[in-house]
Amino acid sequence: MQIKSFAEYEETYRFSVEWPEKFWAGIAEEFLWRKKWDKVLSWNFSEPNIKWFEGAKLNITENCLDRHLAKNGDKPAIIWESNDPDKSSITLTYKVLHEQVCRFANVLKKNGVVKGDRICIYMPMVPELAVAVLACARIGAVHSVIFGGFSAKSIADRINDSACKLVITADGSFRGNKQIQLKEVIDDALIGCPTVEKVIVLTHTRTPVSMLKGRDLWFEDEIKQVDTDCPAEEMDAEDMLFILYTSGSTGKPKGVVHTVGGYMVYAGYTFTNAFNYQPDEVFFCTADIGWITGHSYIVYGPLSQGATTLMFEGVPTHPTPSRLWEIIEKHKVNILYTAPTAIRSLMSYGTDPLKGKDLSTLRVLGSVGEPINEEAWHWFDEEVGHKNCPIVDTWWQTETGGLMISPIAFVTPLKPACATLPLPGIQPILVDEQGNEIEGNGVNGNLCIKFPWPGMLRTTYGDHERCKQTYFSTYPDLYFTGDGCMRDEDGYYKITGRVDDVINVSGHRIGTAEVENAINMHAGVVESAVVGYPHEIKGQGIFAFIIYPKLHNESDLTKKDILQTVTRVIGAIAKPDKIVFVSGLPKTRSGKIMRRILRKIAEGETTNLGDTSTLLDPAVVEEIIVAAKQL
Ligand code: PRX
Repeated sequence: MQIKSFAEYEETYRFSVEWPEKFWAGIAEEFLWRKKWDKVLSWNFSEPNIKWFEGAKLNITENCLDRHLAKNGDKPAIIWESNDPDKSSITLTYKVLHEQVCRFANVLKKNGVVKGDRICIYMPMVPELAVAVLACARIGAVHSVIFGGFSAKSIADRINDSACKLVITADGSFRGNKQIQLKEVIDDALIGCPTVEKVIVLTHTRTPVSMLKGRDLWFEDEIKQVDTDCPAEEMDAEDMLFILYTSGSTGKPKGVVHTVGGYMVYAGYTFTNAFNYQPDEVFFCTADIGWITGHSYIVYGPLSQGATTLMFEGVPTHPTPSRLWEIIEKHKVNILYTAPTAIRSLMSYGTDPLKGKDLSTLRVLGSVGEPINEEAWHWFDEEVGHKNCPIVDTWWQTETGGLMISPIAFVTPLKPACATLPLPGIQPILVDEQGNEIEGNGVNGNLCIKFPWPGMLRTTYGDHERCKQTYFSTYPDLYFTGDGCMRDEDGYYKITGRVDDVINVSGHRIGTAEVENAINMHAGVVESAVVGYPHEIKGQGIFAFIIYPKLHNESDLTKKDILQTVTRVIGAIAKPDKIVFVSGLPKTRSGKIMRRILRKIAEGETTNLGDTSTLLDPAVVEEIIVAAKQL
């Protein structure tokens, strides 16, 4: 299933467009099914209704674990590297991982979890997180992993939205020199979560936690009470595998739903191809399992292919800016998959931290999460890859399940900072605002996909209409990505960034409306508007314009209070980088905030603000410019 040459890619791509069902059936053949499908694909984008491999029966953990045992039982499946460099790393072979997953799956069963139940996972980046995820999949429970940086309120909203029955967490987590009291956050969240019956708590940071009688259980106690025999639940290909919440331009985060069969095929296929994974190599994805990148390329993609996946608890620059390079040297990493924000942050320390580090095992580099700037691309290429490692700039989304537009390492001719070409089976098109297809090369437009692929989302949990409105209604019969894109003279795709009200901060998607709602909850705030602006390390920063009429002398303290409110409501990742207090916001006569103008001001533009003729009160703009300049 690995593509070896560009001619083969072109041929495969042509075939995948002409005969999509034959193409995907051929790929799916390489996985383990208890029963094969009756029908490869049925679909329409109008409802939408998408089904892949209908009638097929399988369990994804038999693909990720059991099927490797006979030949590769002693091969490392997960290598874990602690936040603390002095702590020994842990290796879980396929055999050990299989055993731990079965054991923990039995713990879930013992606590009343059955197929279809939703389970919230809020854990540090430790092997038990992967174990928890796979244990859910083993028994057909639906996991909803929440990134460790979200607040109690965000967690409660997510738990309630999908009526989770059980929570798996830990006492706390380490990230660099910070500690997060995960259990405390969960305790706060659960005050408002009536559906949660049990909480399983892993000991990790050894910080004292309160344990509620009848509800809270220790992970370590529970696993002692069960055995390691846990046959996998038989799942339909279209049964739900997981929910992952993500931000959009409006309202609260949506629970993106992925199903078992198509997701597995897609994560596995894209992993093996784009990264050119070879048996016995060590694959290191620096993402957190709380995001889709971790789901697909730390857990499911690599494990379904029998790969060795490296899981890192900490941050690349802690305790020193050499940490990432030390890890690569220590574990002889062959493929490094990270985000532009991490590259820029490492780059800011210069090349000293790289000196004397043996990175010669590296063969392929990858980038994900946001557009990579050329400077960062070249630094990655020269200083890390020594111009010897292809960089795969992989464009995709939580909703797409796996890589969509990306080079295939050693196959696709590269261009700096460019996602290049669609993977086989992916049919991108560019459209204008009215939805007309923009044909030819050397053009810009909104990026849509016109044909289904196995890894695509099926719905948004509990609200199918929202899925339809968000992704399939802007342009009829197309999946709309929310991204702008250029197709250059050679037909290569270069993603230019979001065209909706979503900000990409350090590769994390944050909806401006969500941040505004959080700011508006602060006492004294009348109204606010939030936009993104270019940020040297984070890619985009958050700029908030806030109407706060009774501002006292201590405006700095008020800013901090507002940041505290945002941290409480969403989490620290959504804290604005810049705040200005203003007396009004630029609005049209119909009361709509003209974000276009605010974006320009946030970018430092003062004169060329575009058409301002529809503004209700132009004087407001002058005041905002002055206030923003004073920051
Ligand atoms: O704007 C695109 C950007 O990240 C968005 C998806 O965010 P999320 O669902 O959180 O998933 C991130 C990891 C897959 C996209 O709509 N994005 C992701 N990868 C790239 C990118 N923008 C440019 N180049 C990329 N390689």
